[in-house]
Amino acid sequence: MEPIVITDLVKNFGGFKAVDGLSLTVRQGTFVGFLGPNGAGKTTTIKILTNMLRATSGSAYLNGVDVVKDPKAAMADLGAVVETPEFYPYLTPNETLAFLGELRGMSTEDIRIRSAEVLETVKMTEWADQRIGKFSKGMKQRIAIAQAILHRPSVVILDEPTSGLDPRGMAEVREVLMDLKKERYTIFMSSHLLNEVQEICDEVALIDRGKLLRSGPVDALLGSVKVHRMEVRSLQQIDGPWLNKISQLEGIEELRASGPAGFVFTLNGGDKEQAGMLRELQSIGLDVVSFKESGVALENLYMSMIKESR
Ligand SMILES: Nc1ncnc2c1ncn2[C@@H]1O[C@H](COP(=O)(O)OP(=O)(O)OP(=O)(O)O)[C@@H](O)[C@H]1O
Ligand SMILES: [Mg+2]
Repeated sequence: MEPIVITDLVKNFGGFKAVDGLSLTVRQGTFVGFLGPNGAGKTTTIKILTNMLRATSGSAYLNGVDVVKDPKAAMADLGAVVETPEFYPYLTPNETLAFLGELRGMSTEDIRIRSAEVLETVKMTEWADQRIGKFSKGMKQRIAIAQAILHRPSVVILDEPTSGLDPRGMAEVREVLMDLKKERYTIFMSSHLLNEVQEICDEVALIDRGKLLRSGPVDALLGSVKVHRMEVRSLQQIDGPWLNKISQLEGIEELRASGPAGFVFTLNGGDKEQAGMLRELQSIGLDVVSFKESGVALENLYMSMIKESR
């Protein structure tokens, strides 16, 4: 049974379709990045999955349990962080988790054991008895994740878990996400940070205007990209004569200098063509210092798919 199965999901707000016939499956043990521009319907979808919103039509199942018909059972195996959670500032993480554990019907002993475990997972053990009021945003976000997994759910849903954090906070939360992945949780996470998604997710689902544009393993999607923007740095300064020489190589398109000793160009083809081009450049006497795909590969793919769909 798949952890998350969404079929023909629709959510109307008045006459506006925020989610428009979305179908999506998240498989056991995968970390899926849920992507899409602002207003694409990610949060709305996540709120339906987490029983914070009622779908207009269609269905959503968590581990085979209908979220609409049996929300209580569906939520039992789900941990979610949807909006930046509010904490009682005078309580400590241990107190906060104890309070939540009681609400969820866990025994005192289980709460004690599990609190220690989840605080370890989110790397907040040494803060277990400090008041949350003085924590940074990133620390609060990690406590939110600890809360979400306290009752040992197998599925975790996160809506932009690193948004609004500074670079260090982001890195810390990202590390926690990597650990959740190692602990074999099935994770469904919306994000706008494509480098983050490319780094930690196994699969992506890209939506726009409430509809699925594309989904699949990150590797396969990137492998399907045929046009690559390449970035080269060399010992030589790239002047007019060099540009002229390089532009005459077969397969070089949209060539331009970038920085004092570098240039960028577009290349049609995959790994094989890239390796061939590197050889060509060296054969015309260029001392290549670095030769790599420019920017984030997933970002290029994302941009082209959004553009295509509009
Ligand atoms: N309660 C609501 N009432 C009316 N319209 C809403 C409501 N909630 C969301 N919408 C609209 O539905 C659309 C989808 O919103 P949603 O928040 O799901 O997008 P999102 O993909 O999460 O965007 P972002 O990346 O900005 O978080 C938007 O156009 C939004 O304005
Ligand atoms: Mg959102």
